[in-house]
Amino acid sequence: MEATTLPKSWNIDQTLDDLDQQGFAVIDHVYSYHYVYQLVKECISNLNCFREAAIQNGVVSNVRSDHILWIDENLHIAQHHINTLKQLSQLLNRHFYLGINDVEAHFACYNTGEFYALHRDNPQNKNGRIISTVYYLHEEWQESWGGELHLQDKKNVWHTIQPKPNRIAMFQSDLLHEVIQAKHQRLSITAWLRSDQNII
Ligand code: OGA
Ligand code: MN
Repeated sequence: MEATTLPKSWNIDQTLDDLDQQGFAVIDHVYSYHYVYQLVKECISNLNCFREAAIQNGVVSNVRSDHILWIDENLHIAQHHINTLKQLSQLLNRHFYLGINDVEAHFACYNTGEFYALHRDNPQNKNGRIISTVYYLHEEWQESWGGELHLQDKKNVWHTIQPKPNRIAMFQSDLLHEVIQAKHQRLSITAWLRSDQNII
């Protein structure tokens, strides 16, 4: 694996504590301005390749209306984010014995009016998703634009997380959450830290 170190600005002790106590954590000012600029550019220049997330194997569902693009090695700038998440996975494994050994990720674009209804990323432990992470990469976000992440923590308390630029929200994949309808284009990378493949 490429030697990536976690950004120095991250307060990792706080993150570990929040994950432990609440089942979720938020980190702000995640990457340098230079990196964010390149990542946004890579996302926007590929928007024409995004597909409706609600359609899987030809079957349409109405739980979500965003568009996504799965990240592979051809998306070079996004790879750095994936590598950072692999580093984070190792740290989480050391602290919580989670057995994470894979990261899967996609860009997501919510245009005006788009949403993702209440769901869990890993209901009843039926897939290998352990921790869900969402990194927000639009350049600006105003509270009146909606698009909040609404999340129930492990003590059943609800939280409203603004999709602020250069922020990562991470949470246990079994927790209930939703994305409120956006009133402005909302760009992100959702990535899951998984425990079911032998890649790392
Ligand atoms: C998801 C998801 C939350 C967000 O992609 O599964 O719940 O804030 N995303 O984008
Ligand atoms: Mn989700």
